[in-house]
Amino acid sequence: PPAGSLRGRHVLVTAGPTHEPIDPVRYIANRSSGKQGFAIAAAAAQAGARVTLVAGPVHLATPAGVERVDVETAREMAAAVEAALPADIAVMVAAVADWRVADAAGQKLKKQGGGVPALALAENPDILAGLASGPRRPQLVVGFAAETQDVIRYAQEKRLRKHADWIVANDVSGDVMGGDLNAVHIVRADDVISLPEMPKEDVARALVERFADAFPR
Ligand code: C5P
Repeated sequence: PPAGSLRGRHVLVTAGPTHEPIDPVRYIANRSSGKQGFAIAAAAAQAGARVTLVAGPVHLATPAGVERVDVETAREMAAAVEAALPADIAVMVAAVADWRVADAAGQKLKKQGGGVPALALAENPDILAGLASGPRRPQLVVGFAAETQDVIRYAQEKRLRKHADWIVANDVSGDVMGGDLNAVHIVRADDVISLPEMPKEDVARALVERFADAFPR
C-alpha cells in the first residue's frame, strides 16, 4: 500500500454526545455535534481503513465506506466499542456524559403538588480509559480533550491518567462546539503538534496522516 494509506487497518471512532434518560421523554445531553468525529471517520475511510463509527444521537449523514453503529447512552456506547474490537486505532471523539441518572423513571415524571423531583446521578464508565488499559487495547489509542484554559497542560495530564497514546486537545472557549472550524494540539509523549485553525474536515485529514505515519509501510 502507498505511504499515507491505512489500508488493512481497522479504525474505531466514537463521536457525538450521549443522551442519558431521566424518564421516557426527557434526557441529559451536551452540545457536541459529532462533526469532528464524523470527519475523522470519513478521512480514515478515504485513506483505505475499515472504519467503525460508534455514534451518539446526532443529525449527520453516514460517511461513505463507514460502518455506523448508533447508540444513545454512555453504557450503550461502551458496549458497542467493546463489540467492535479488535481495532488497530481507536479515536475517542465522543463527548460522553460523565453521569447518568441513577434510576431513570419508567414512566413520565409528573408535576405535582409544588415539589420538584430530585435526580440522583451515577458515574458512567470511562470508555477511553477502559479501552486503553484493557486486554484488547488497540495499538494506537487517541483521546480528545475539550478545555477552556491551560489546554496543553490538562491534555498531558489526561493522556497519562487515561493511558492514551495521544490526546487531541482543543480550546472550546470559542464556538468550536457545533461550529465548522477547529484548532487542535496533538499532545503526545514527547512532543506537541499545534495545528492552525481550519475546517474540521482538514483537521481530520491532518490527524489521519499522523495515524498513517504511526503505522509505517
Ligand atoms: O475526561 P474527559 O471527558 O475530558 O475526557 C475526554 C476524552 O475521554 C475523550 O476522548 C472522550 O471521548 C473520552 N471519554 C470516554 N468516556 C467517558 C468520558 C470521556 O471515552 N465516560
